Amino acid sequence: MDEQADIHGSYWLHTVPPGEPAPPPEGPLTVDAAVVGGGIAGLCTAWELARRGRSVAVLEAHRIAAGVTGHTTAKLSAQHTLVYDHLRRTRGPEGARLYARSQTDAIRHAARTAEELGVDCDWEDTAAYTYVEDPARTDPLKAEAEAAREAGLPAEYVTETDLPFPVAGAVRVADQAQFHPRKYLLALADDIRRLGGVIHENSRVTGFDEGDPCRLTVESAAGATEVTARSVVVATHYPVFDRALLFTRLSPRRELVLAAPVDAARAPLGMYITQEHRTRSVRTAPLEDGRRLLVVTGEHFTPGAGGDVEERFERLAAWATDRFGELTFTHRWATQDNDSTDSVPLVGPLHPGSKHAYVATGFGGWGLSTGIMAGRLLTERITGRDCAWSDLYDPRRIASVVREGAAFLKHQADVARHFVGDRLPSASGPEVDGIAPGDGAIVRVSGERCAVHRDEAGQLHAVSARCTHLGCLVAFNRAEKAWECPCHGSRFDFEGQVLQGPAQQPLERRDL
Ligand code: FES
Repeated sequence: MDEQADIHGSYWLHTVPPGEPAPPPEGPLTVDAAVVGGGIAGLCTAWELARRGRSVAVLEAHRIAAGVTGHTTAKLSAQHTLVYDHLRRTRGPEGARLYARSQTDAIRHAARTAEELGVDCDWEDTAAYTYVEDPARTDPLKAEAEAAREAGLPAEYVTETDLPFPVAGAVRVADQAQFHPRKYLLALADDIRRLGGVIHENSRVTGFDEGDPCRLTVESAAGATEVTARSVVVATHYPVFDRALLFTRLSPRRELVLAAPVDAARAPLGMYITQEHRTRSVRTAPLEDGRRLLVVTGEHFTPGAGGDVEERFERLAAWATDRFGELTFTHRWATQDNDSTDSVPLVGPLHPGSKHAYVATGFGGWGLSTGIMAGRLLTERITGRDCAWSDLYDPRRIASVVREGAAFLKHQADVARHFVGDRLPSASGPEVDGIAPGDGAIVRVSGERCAVHRDEAGQLHAVSARCTHLGCLVAFNRAEKAWECPCHGSRFDFEGQVLQGPAQQPLERRDL
């Protein structure tokens, strides 16, 4: 892809940028419920609880609705690629039905909420499609259409879509939606405050004493303080307080996103995804000048093991122009997801002994409908009510070979390879002098592995190469100028500051 000087990052953040940050807590705070993480799951949980009259505090390490939620593709769909055929085999027809009901309930609930709060969030009702171009791969789609229909979704198998290229077959699910996630969630945040809740940004939770009540240590530029809460929800994408070793059941996945304006006449109006070509996802969004923004996503890879990410952006751009004609990309960004090993998110008690601590994670690329669903499910649990799909999503469910076997073993093998391999002495490696401007590499300095980046001005930035989560070696993502850990997906900027957990602590600075 040609270098474009004025290309922006996430369209959602570019069009609704963060304003003045909400200040950190000034001193100790006591609330009914503390929510760690201000993405869609955290904000929805806090809002649902505040509506039920609970006092809530949202504690966000960076800015709300600006992390994974600010970098999503913003589809609100109960159609999650080929999940229903998988679910009816692994969780039975009732499990598939509950999954469909819970996701549909979340979408309808968000529609009602947007209307009730009068939020203009570019809401559009539309259909979702999973398609293939290869005629040899249509059988799984036919099975999926049948399974989704059995699960209660308005699903059908079709061979025509409004994409400008032919497909061999597709599962079409009607009555889904797309929106602008930041417009929706910032309105929810305002309503949390109106209902008496508090939101603290740039406030990292570094300690968690799980008792009755629970106590959280919160660190910020203002110093450290304590938040006391009867209930705590860990909604940090990858759980930062992982007391049930959930990281063994989660695989991080990064995907690239490109966006370009197109004439409305040639813009498809549905939401599309295919597992071909290392996943390709397509949607469009309305622009003020009457055109639509084509948003294409794909090229998934494990963070820290993506090879040349710039080349991946080029492949995605080539695919988009091949299918949609000449495009001028105005935005490019990347999104990160966690796949659970049984393809069902983990939403419920944080660990088997939890009484007041909850978690929401493993959304597998479908974080918007699932984040809204999680807010509703956790609120039912915290307020002592029943929810029909609690058991389906319960993180304490027993893993089974049928449900998780292959995915679990593969993930563990990948992580073990890094745990062991990263600790073996390497025969030789790159030299600092060999690092080109804009690039980074792991080099040995006084016997220690250091992560060294040379910026475009030639200045070197060195940090420890050991991820502060569990010690795997990080690797440089040149396209995003970030150090990434292949074990559980932690990300750090080139000065070592945490961009994304589960790591909580920065990579230590090193002098060269
Ligand atoms: Fe777990 Fe790095 S994210 S070791």
